[in-house]
Amino acid sequence: MTILEMKISKNDSRAIYKQIADQLSAQIDDGLLKPNEKLPTHRALADQLKVTVGTITRAYAEAEHRGLVEARVGAGTYIVDKKKEYWEFQYSIDEQPKLCSFGYNMPPSVGQNDKIKKAMQVLSESSLSLNEFLAYQQPEGIESHRKIFAQWLQKHGRNIDKDRLLFTSGVQHGIQMVFDAFTNVGDTILTEKLTYPGLFSLSRHKKLNLRGVEIDEDGIIPESLDAACQHYQPRFLYVMPTLQNPTTSVMSELRRKEVISICEKHNVLIIEDDVNGLLPDHSPQPLVNLDSERVIHLGSFSKCFAPGLRVGYIQSPKALYSRLKMALKDHSWMLSPLLSGLICELMCSKSLDHILGKIRCEITQRSQMALNVLRPFIPKYQEGGFHLWLALPDTWRLSDFINEAKQRGVIVKSAENFTLPAGKVTPAVRISIGCPRNREQMMRGLSILKGLLESKTTCDFDL
Ligand SMILES: Cc1ncc(COP(=O)(O)O)c(C=O)c1O
Repeated sequence: MTILEMKISKNDSRAIYKQIADQLSAQIDDGLLKPNEKLPTHRALADQLKVTVGTITRAYAEAEHRGLVEARVGAGTYIVDKKKEYWEFQYSIDEQPKLCSFGYNMPPSVGQNDKIKKAMQVLSESSLSLNEFLAYQQPEGIESHRKIFAQWLQKHGRNIDKDRLLFTSGVQHGIQMVFDAFTNVGDTILTEKLTYPGLFSLSRHKKLNLRGVEIDEDGIIPESLDAACQHYQPRFLYVMPTLQNPTTSVMSELRRKEVISICEKHNVLIIEDDVNGLLPDHSPQPLVNLDSERVIHLGSFSKCFAPGLRVGYIQSPKALYSRLKMALKDHSWMLSPLLSGLICELMCSKSLDHILGKIRCEITQRSQMALNVLRPFIPKYQEGGFHLWLALPDTWRLSDFINEAKQRGVIVKSAENFTLPAGKVTPAVRISIGCPRNREQMMRGLSILKGLLESKTTCDFDL
């Protein structure tokens, strides 16, 4: 364990706990304290500095608040590994695989091009619309577009009100708007222990502390959420109730209610990422239907049509709407009305429903094929999901598996991409079955993965 060299001065105007936190900060900056180093226990440091244990507890809490250290349950306090925290996740485009990429969670190609061509043609022939689309609009977008969006989303089981709706350039942008509007440096965001990697880069950018909550097959574990709320007093819980990325879990209705009531108890707002919510034919109600004043609901058309459109939406609690609108305005004034207009055309012509139906069919087919090949290695598949979560047998080291697959021309995503800073990496990979160009390519990729898995398996799975 590290021995800290520190000096406490009674003549210093700063409180003692602040002096300690400041010195921790300086020693990290000077490289005297290294990432992942364990700090002395509260008692040991209190004895060394001749202060009370309570003062050290406050000092460590202050350092944790500043994102310098983290308390690991049952293990002590450690220097945060910033490099890991803000690291590996980059929005780089996967290098072109030789054979097959299972890297991106994106919809398969099922005729989107033709529908887009048609919709653009319809828009281009309406000079009334074009005039409107080429002018500045209110940051929240054109009212008739919001009305069409709200009706379409209501038809798909979401309680959306056009007067609480804002358009964004996708869910990633939506999360950024929420952080811009409502967070300060050092705020804590709770999320599932394995989570969407886009959150890492946004948190780094805003200097927020991400903390993981334990999960089971049903998503976030209520007791763990309760304890984390108590301990961290987070600004938000960010959560993916339906088809969680990467574990694929879908929260039951009961679990959703429990999560909401814990957040209510601790007065924590919820960011509901519903990017995958429209993919299953049936799923429990989104959180926003259960508590529209606590839940900021984010969605987009990246998964149910195409990610390149970059159109998403936020449904905001009433009290937060105008601040979110301002954030959007500061950011880019508004989403291009051309894009919201295009989506409206896809909605009104039923093309969006048509494509969503075809995506569901294609994913059902692909998932059956994938499970037939990989069944012993995939404990569970959730209807509608674009991805499988494959737990590697003990015989494989995670990095070896990824590299071997890559050498054979197949890209999969490592669990590392989804693991929170200082979190333990599960030996698992995400396989996105929407990503391969067609079923044949997918099957070639899967049989390579199967070959790799079997080459090192003593096989005593429950079949
Ligand atoms: C859980 C989750 N949220 C958000 C996004 C980003 O969505 P968008 O393309 O709408 O920004 C993704 C993309 O894969 C995702 O998996």
